[in-house]
Amino acid sequence: MIQEDIEKILGELEALKCKTQKEVEEARVRFLGKKGEVTALFDEFRTFDKENKARFGKVLNELKQKAQARVEALREELLSDPSQAEGPRSDLSLPGDPFELGSRHPVSIVRQQIVDIFRKFGYDVAEGPEIEDDYHVFEALNFPANHPARDMQDTFFVSAGHLNPLLLRTHTSSVQVRTMEKMDVPIRVICPGRVFRNEAISARAHCIFNQVEGLYIDENVSFADLKQAILLFAREMFGADTQIRMRPSYFPFTEPSAEVDVSCNICHGKGCNICKGTGWLEILGCGMVDPNVLEASGIDSKKYSGFAFGMGLERIAMLKWRVNDLRHYFENDMRFLHEFAPAPEV
Ligand code: DAH
Repeated sequence: MIQEDIEKILGELEALKCKTQKEVEEARVRFLGKKGEVTALFDEFRTFDKENKARFGKVLNELKQKAQARVEALREELLSDPSQAEGPRSDLSLPGDPFELGSRHPVSIVRQQIVDIFRKFGYDVAEGPEIEDDYHVFEALNFPANHPARDMQDTFFVSAGHLNPLLLRTHTSSVQVRTMEKMDVPIRVICPGRVFRNEAISARAHCIFNQVEGLYIDENVSFADLKQAILLFAREMFGADTQIRMRPSYFPFTEPSAEVDVSCNICHGKGCNICKGTGWLEILGCGMVDPNVLEASGIDSKKYSGFAFGMGLERIAMLKWRVNDLRHYFENDMRFLHEFAPAPEV
């Protein structure tokens, strides 16, 4: 009986293989631990009579030594194997841990495109505060005292009640005014920024959105210059075969004023559900800066003239990527944002 057990253990020790130090330790416990197989044979040995004790004592001691030697040999073997070394991996050619790259927000992508296009035309970028005063958002832009845009329904007031209340700007046209106050003519700027309106949030309206304002002032600037600037912009932004059309409109700060449509680049003028069958998509408002606006900021309206334009970035992005709900831009749903992720670099 015990002879068979000894042989079985000897065979197992011979065949024993360990890949890690942990496995070596497990093997040691299995054979030599307090409840190990070799230890169990010693327990059994204690119950033997004299004769059997004499017969198996030496054999058992040899078995124990062999088990100890085998475990020690396996431990040494692993220690001299560099791939089993503990501590940091020493193979520097192994690939690193992958981490997910973020993506640019569609509104940021469009803003950058617009800025790049107008930079090429020689425009500088100007910025102004989001918390503005009534003067820069309305008064200096020729809004009549009782104009509905000043109404509580549209404007978030920060401090109401006195002569020039603080408010969240409702358009980036306020940056026109600040630029005219600061810079000498000629002026060529575009002003990207966030604007705020007290609107119920829906697929087509939001209380926060982004605009880009443009302003060009010099001697002899004409409506033809405005038209050309917008046409060149539209072709850079929407494709070389883009057409524009201007419709007469009204803004207090421009005279004459127009709204600009671009030819629908989805149906190419045939009419589709994006352009609602008209073949045209509205992209911006513009006009010749009203002489009152120039004078309010200290620019001689007899010597200088200029044009201005303003557009909503979310709207341009919607047209570009056919997004049908404005709320997607603000909800940070990863599934939406990942649509705009650049292809991973290889
Ligand atoms: N500020 C206007 C708006 O928020 C957009 C605009 C229209 C800006 C005409 C302009 C302009 O500079 O000339 O709706």
